[in-house]
Amino acid sequence: MSVAPWRSAIARALHQNRSLIYARYLQLATVRTNGRPANRTVVFRGFLEDTDQLKFITDARSEKVEQILQKPWAEACWYFPRTREQFRIHGRLILVGNDNSQPILQKARYATWQQLSDAARLQFAWPDPGKPRTNNQDAFAPPPPNSIEPLANFCLLLLAPVEVEHLELQGEPQNRWLYSYDHQEWSVKAINP
Ligand SMILES: Cc1cc2nc3c(=O)[nH]c(=O)nc-3n(C[C@H](O)[C@H](O)[C@H](O)COP(=O)(O)O)c2cc1C
Repeated sequence: MSVAPWRSAIARALHQNRSLIYARYLQLATVRTNGRPANRTVVFRGFLEDTDQLKFITDARSEKVEQILQKPWAEACWYFPRTREQFRIHGRLILVGNDNSQPILQKARYATWQQLSDAARLQFAWPDPGKPRTNNQDAFAPPPPNSIEPLANFCLLLLAPVEVEHLELQGEPQNRWLYSYDHQEWSVKAINP
């Protein structure tokens, strides 16, 4: 598979911003079940092998999951502070949960779980996110989950882009490109900033 043309711009931005741990955080917007927007920060975990799909992780019990099941459309907004550029990545989300029967995706879900730190894995054993907090502090110190076998509520979340907009503030004047996926092909055009 040849990688999408916007991938080299993202790879370059990741490289030039590699000293900033938070350059791997981006905002991911979904649509609430009432049609209004929802937005949150997530960690970029690389691309799914042999695809242009961005990998994230999330908890099946979190609100975004219900939103995604109802409407898979999403937009990520990713700002790289060192190089002063923004990517807006628009596409469909694919949830890979415990019950996903596609071997490649289930394998990727397992591999992603195994690559997590113990602290990151532990969060999936915490009480239900978004539910009222109780005084039971022990609930947040559960036994460490198995590092090989993901907990059932652990989801791999994939974003399959169909449009990527890249804005570079550096340069006089600024640069802005629009990449679009149509008829299984990417095209790119320069647009006004
Ligand atoms: C720096 C940072 C990184 C985060 N990374 C993730 C992540 O990778 N996955 C995730 O589901 N939530 C992550 N969160 C928490 C989300 O922003 C959000 O609070 C949570 O997922 C619940 O969102 P929801 O109610 O819309 O589902 C992160 C938060 C911060 C501040």
